[in-house]
Amino acid sequence: MRQKKVKYATKEILEAYGVIIEPKRLEFKEKRAFLEIGSGKGSFISSLANDHPDDIFIAMEININVCYRIIEKKEAMKLDNLIIIHGDASFLNLYFDSDSIDGIYLNFSDPWPKKKHHKRRLTYPTFLKTYQNLLKDHGFLQFRTDHPTLFQESVEYIENHFKIIEINNHLEESRYMTEYEIKKRVLGPIYQLIGKVEKNVKESL
Ligand SMILES: C[S@@+](CC[C@H](N)C(=O)[O-])C[C@H]1O[C@@H](n2cnc3c(N)ncnc32)[C@H](O)[C@@H]1O
Repeated sequence: MRQKKVKYATKEILEAYGVIIEPKRLEFKEKRAFLEIGSGKGSFISSLANDHPDDIFIAMEININVCYRIIEKKEAMKLDNLIIIHGDASFLNLYFDSDSIDGIYLNFSDPWPKKKHHKRRLTYPTFLKTYQNLLKDHGFLQFRTDHPTLFQESVEYIENHFKIIEINNHLEESRYMTEYEIKKRVLGPIYQLIGKVEKNVKESL
């Protein structure tokens, strides 16, 4: 479909471009599937999808106008392996089966600094339990931010649910950066954590 310039997107416009606008179950057959939650304008996930055409990539974004920016990239780069969901991470269970996802990316998630709002953080334990369930055994969670307090507190949440594989307090630039990362890099360090799910660890007798 020829891409139109749109200032304010609507659900109808999104749907016309194949965006998933209502919860439905997704199946990936034998393919590997990677999910980014809160994709923003989609630079990170579209670059990954472009470089790995045999895998499926899913961008989930709650903001409708931002979602449209992901469509622009999908269309321009002709990414058949990029699925876009206009939806809220609180309802992930309505889209994905248990043990169906290979990796989850959280990039520059909103920090929600006030304690009474911590539950909304995408790294909060309630979300982590859902990620744990949806990820396959040995699937990974990769979390990247420029926000030191959010990072430190998220490390504490995540280490209770995942095996920590990497903590990096000064992440180098890469080919896969979000719009926020490009903006924030000049202001200070970028932090990254990678954790893995271990579902079949037997307790030693
Ligand atoms: C600070 S922005 C970062 C955007 C992008 N990841 C980047 O690094 O450029 C956070 C994004 O997460 C989205 N978001 C926040 N809560 C969400 C939720 N519960 N489900 C889906 N998207 C969410 C927001 O709409 C926003 O686009």
